[in-house]
Amino acid sequence: MTSELEDLFSFLRFPSISTDSSHAGDVRACAEWLLAKLTGMGLVTELHDTPKHPIVVARNVHVPGRHTVLIYGHYDVQPVDPLNLWTSDPFEPVIRGERIWARGASDNKGQMLAHVLGVEKTLREQSELPLNLIFLFEGEEEIGSPNLASFLLHHCDELKCDVVAISDTGMVAPGVPTLGYGLRGIACCEAIIRGPKGDLHSGLFGGAVANPAAAMARLVASLHALDGRVAIEGFYDHVRPLEPWEREMWTNIPGVSDADFLAVTGSPGLFGEPGYSSAERTWARPTAEVNGIGGGYQGEGSKTVLPAEAFVKLSFRLVPDQSPKDIMAKVQSHLEWHSPPGVEVEVRVGHDGKPYVTDPNSKYGLAAQAALRVAFEAEPVLIREGGSIPIVQTFRDILGADTLLLGLALCDSQVHAPNENFPIENFEAGIRLNQALLIELAR
Ligand code: BES
Ligand code: ZN
Repeated sequence: MTSELEDLFSFLRFPSISTDSSHAGDVRACAEWLLAKLTGMGLVTELHDTPKHPIVVARNVHVPGRHTVLIYGHYDVQPVDPLNLWTSDPFEPVIRGERIWARGASDNKGQMLAHVLGVEKTLREQSELPLNLIFLFEGEEEIGSPNLASFLLHHCDELKCDVVAISDTGMVAPGVPTLGYGLRGIACCEAIIRGPKGDLHSGLFGGAVANPAAAMARLVASLHALDGRVAIEGFYDHVRPLEPWEREMWTNIPGVSDADFLAVTGSPGLFGEPGYSSAERTWARPTAEVNGIGGGYQGEGSKTVLPAEAFVKLSFRLVPDQSPKDIMAKVQSHLEWHSPPGVEVEVRVGHDGKPYVTDPNSKYGLAAQAALRVAFEAEPVLIREGGSIPIVQTFRDILGADTLLLGLALCDSQVHAPNENFPIENFEAGIRLNQALLIELAR
């Protein structure tokens, strides 16, 4: 095994699950491993404690007058359940069929370590970097980066940079270098419907009082019109229309046709907002999703119960120029207004993040395209991403820098799911990409 793969395997062995407080020690140990790796490369490093998980910063010796790039990544991972669906231990990485299998392989350890190892290689070959570099790695991305914005505010002078680069997104197809120039924003909430003071016998009381689970079904159904549009009043008010040039450009991108979406998802059919392709629906149109719903009996067989309450977990993906706070206010009044008679609804507002879009053909965008061309020996495609990395818009707001999204995961890399994986060839390309990117950005 190459020393690069050995490093990645060591990194992947830490169960750095940020949402699970029983893993706080593992998250910290992972940060300390990373810190030691960066220190060993000759960078100046700092570990900053936060109310939750540490932030790791590393930099070379900055030379006035050179360009400064900040490379961001996250070393925390999502939980692994359901564990029984994994073919191998999520925290004991293995190679099967040219891919590395482990939690975090793609999201984000494999992608971010490629940048670290690219820098290590350049330092070994040239003994110095062509520009000023700041690595910024956090352990809270998967829980909405609750402490990173205030860290940026407090350290904005030391983190000043011309541009940010992140590999925490995807490629449209194997071998097709992909530059992302947009991300959707997000707004999350939970709604609880309460009825009787306790569970009731559905024969003795059903028909006399409202059923919270049935009320929840009606409330959730009210979020969409039958044609798939979101039915919340004012939801589309500030949506920036797709540009004709991007709609045209996206018809020629491999791997993202409606047929591809059907094949990748394994769904019996496509469904979404009328008038848009699947790529347009996921990259540039807002949505309302049910992430979890429950209430009442979930066990084997039947139980004639009228449950006392029901819950739903919702998230809304947002596009420029929607505001997460404005959308959440609209969601809240929608849920209160549409709550059926005989029950009470409580809405608990969760985390959010702003949408982001930039010009893929800016000076730095063109440098990123050139680096992708070198690393993959192919012409890059330009896309927006359906997922969210809320800190990207915060980088623009606080540091005044735009972000290059240099995705390396594949659509079947199973991020957030069992059997997460990362192609070895993308890991190696990521190392080349980092080396080429620093050269192109230094020009
Ligand atoms: N790396 C993902 C985001 C992503 C994946 C963007 C693929 C584009 C393509 C990131 O780690 C993530 O999962 N973000 C969360 C948001 C967060 C606020 C919980 C998401 O998108 O659900
Ligand atoms: Zn993620």
